[in-house]
Amino acid sequence: MEWTPRSWEGKPCTQQPIYSDGNALRRTLDEIAALPPLVTSYEIEALKSQLAEAARGERFILWGGDCAESFADCTSAAIASKLKILLQMSLVLVHGTRKRITRIGRFAGQYAKPRSAATEVRDGIELPSFRGDNVNRPEFTVEARTPDPQLLLRGYERSALTLNFIRSLVDGGFADLHHPENWDLSFVKHAPLAAEYQSMVDSIGESLRFMETLAGGTISAMQRVDFFTSHELLVLAYESALTRQVPRREGWFNLSTHLPWIGLRTSDPNAAHMEFCRGIRNPIGVKIGPETTAEQLLSTIRSLASVTNDGCEEGRVVLITRCGAHRIGRALPPLVRAVRDAQLPVVWIVDPMHGNTETVVPTSGAWAGMSVKTRKFGHILAEVEQSFEIHRMEGTVLAGVHVELTGEDVTECTGGARGLSDDDLSRAYRSQVDPRLNYEQALELAMLIARRAAGR
Ligand code: PEP
Ligand code: CO
Repeated sequence: MEWTPRSWEGKPCTQQPIYSDGNALRRTLDEIAALPPLVTSYEIEALKSQLAEAARGERFILWGGDCAESFADCTSAAIASKLKILLQMSLVLVHGTRKRITRIGRFAGQYAKPRSAATEVRDGIELPSFRGDNVNRPEFTVEARTPDPQLLLRGYERSALTLNFIRSLVDGGFADLHHPENWDLSFVKHAPLAAEYQSMVDSIGESLRFMETLAGGTISAMQRVDFFTSHELLVLAYESALTRQVPRREGWFNLSTHLPWIGLRTSDPNAAHMEFCRGIRNPIGVKIGPETTAEQLLSTIRSLASVTNDGCEEGRVVLITRCGAHRIGRALPPLVRAVRDAQLPVVWIVDPMHGNTETVVPTSGAWAGMSVKTRKFGHILAEVEQSFEIHRMEGTVLAGVHVELTGEDVTECTGGARGLSDDDLSRAYRSQVDPRLNYEQALELAMLIARRAAGR
């Protein structure tokens, strides 16, 4: 079948909002389609070549952010703190891995969420589930839960505002390696790992001064660090409105983000999300769970390669494995072997978050007796460690990590250097969706990855 930005409409499509006013939706989509793109094709191509380098072990990918962004969090403080934690983690990773790091944010468009049930029932009243800020509103009323096409436009604008601020901060020197003090978060001084972090900062500062003495000037490459954007590709009507052709380049680019990914719930190789991705030139992330079979995986990779090129372009297919610490040992090796033996060039990333979500019931504190969604730091770390080990055994490369984190001092995941317990969760639990690593846990994870990657 011939691919077009709307050929997905002929395929089974799940997880889509149902808009009651088709004309209003069309008008909004036409408006979005006429607006400038959020990213450019040359940025997308630069990311693709960095992903190819990471797949060869020459770089490491640090990919992180909130489970879902919210419109209310489009503030300077929230955006800056996300950049700060990613910058601090990448400094730690540079120090430990001696590799260049590519930073990808789950931001500037991570507004839509897949849901396991289409509706929610409260006190006998059934309403559509909340699907994220660019689809409907969280309050449990008919008006709030009715999908509103205008929110797609608001989401586009919030993405543009976020990106504009990120680009200005980066261009203005916020990410300059000479000034890591820009990235300090106020509570960091009390963190158990603050001293270890500071000694890495000092050692990188010394190396930088040494190199610059030799070079006889500042190394300008160190003054600019890029961020790429990503979000789960979910509302296909929105994504196709931002899918364009550009001068002097073949094919189509989804210019809503650099790196869209297909979630586990929409990854059927014969369905609409895969059909849409087949024809765009962006790198594509695909979530892989413990139930994915080698056969399905090979067919997914091959179908993603089919329109844009004959073989499979390096850096194009990004496999994000999220099996869970208890299942990865059995689930991942056969998948890795099948892809390796088929000689398909893919980028292997581990998401140690989504296979490790659990429900706990605190026994004391404000949430005693309630069910709370959390993740244990030990499980997250164990999945990362096993991923490194499995790829090492199979002769393949773990190119990076994909995590849900925040630069804030929240209590959503347990464990870590400060030993947060189930009873601590009520103290500062802010996520509306999945539990995120807090600032200290994120930095600790980076330190442990750096040690592991350095072979220590
Ligand atoms: C996510 O990344 O927030 C998500 C929903 O993941 P998955 O599709 O892997 O469950
Ligand atoms: Co999530």
